[in-house]
Amino acid sequence: MGNCCRDEETIEEIKELKSQLGQKLLILTHHYQRKEIVELGHFRGDSFELSRRAAEKNEASFIVFCGVHFMAESAAILSEPGQVVQIPDPGAGCPMADMADADVVEEAWKELTSLFGDKSIMPVVYMNSDASLKAFCGRNGGTVCTSSNAERAFRWGLTQGKKIFFFPDRHLGLNTAYRLRIRPDEIVVWESNRQSGGVELARLKGARVILWDGYCVVHTRFRPEHVVEMRERFPGAKIVVHPECTREVVELADAVGSTGFIVNYVENAPPGSTIIIGTEINLVDRLAHENPDKNIFDLYYSLCPNMFKITPEKLRDCLREIGGRNVISVPEHVKKDALVALNRMLELPHGS
Ligand code: 13P
Ligand code: SF4
Repeated sequence: MGNCCRDEETIEEIKELKSQLGQKLLILTHHYQRKEIVELGHFRGDSFELSRRAAEKNEASFIVFCGVHFMAESAAILSEPGQVVQIPDPGAGCPMADMADADVVEEAWKELTSLFGDKSIMPVVYMNSDASLKAFCGRNGGTVCTSSNAERAFRWGLTQGKKIFFFPDRHLGLNTAYRLRIRPDEIVVWESNRQSGGVELARLKGARVILWDGYCVVHTRFRPEHVVEMRERFPGAKIVVHPECTREVVELADAVGSTGFIVNYVENAPPGSTIIIGTEINLVDRLAHENPDKNIFDLYYSLCPNMFKITPEKLRDCLREIGGRNVISVPEHVKKDALVALNRMLELPHGS
């Protein structure tokens, strides 16, 4: 049997299992998933929209999360007791999330709070992180944020006169700080493998934003020369990029925002527009397919191999063993504190 027939059979079986499970099943899919997966899901979104959806009351007993591990883990923390969250491939991780180890972050926190006191600094953790770091923020008066509400999270701490200690993504942190007009001399990068982050005390004292040194391998592939080349090839095109891109790329772009923002940007653009997108290739390809009246191109080909690990076969296997296969479990004490930080994110004040 050719691949094509096998794929069709798999997709038919998923549809059949979906209809048998009815309201008991909720399939959530991230925008970077393969087209077939997104089409089979009940709801697609960026990491913020998906966490909000997982936190909403719903009748599902089983949530199958098609995305990377930290997203499924957050859904498991936010879901109702008794709901089971499964991920089709538990090996779908995020290298950026792995760049902040809970013990190393705690060491840095101890050093920073011994210098400034724990009332004058607020930890903010990116959604792309292990549950133990979300729990750490919950215990220490901090919050989680995603790329769609990082500005709000930073502003919340800054308006209380606190320094922001943000991990793991240095680029999202830098882009957010610049959006909030924090001066460059008030931003420092804490190099996690160096003594005292490799930052001089005087610089730390003057800092309002302290950034961990993690980064996304997918979004840092975009280079300023890609923007320059695409502007030459497509004069008049708009360039929109994700805030995990480097500052140099963001400065050359026309717009920057989360995957949800990018989707809206394309959908709201007038027919005939040419839009060049700097984010994961599966989203760019799908937007091109779904908006045939616009000219959509990738800034450069960049695929997230972890998002790509979720295949129709693995989704089918999860549905065949619903409630049993690849169930996400988070220890109760971690869950309790992580939930505090996730709920703070969901309730972040709009105008702060
Ligand atoms: P969003 O918050 O935009 O969904 O991004 C998640 C992510 O992993 C981007 O690389
Ligand atoms: Fe992680 Fe980057 Fe993949 Fe997002 S695109 S899941 S940050 S590696």
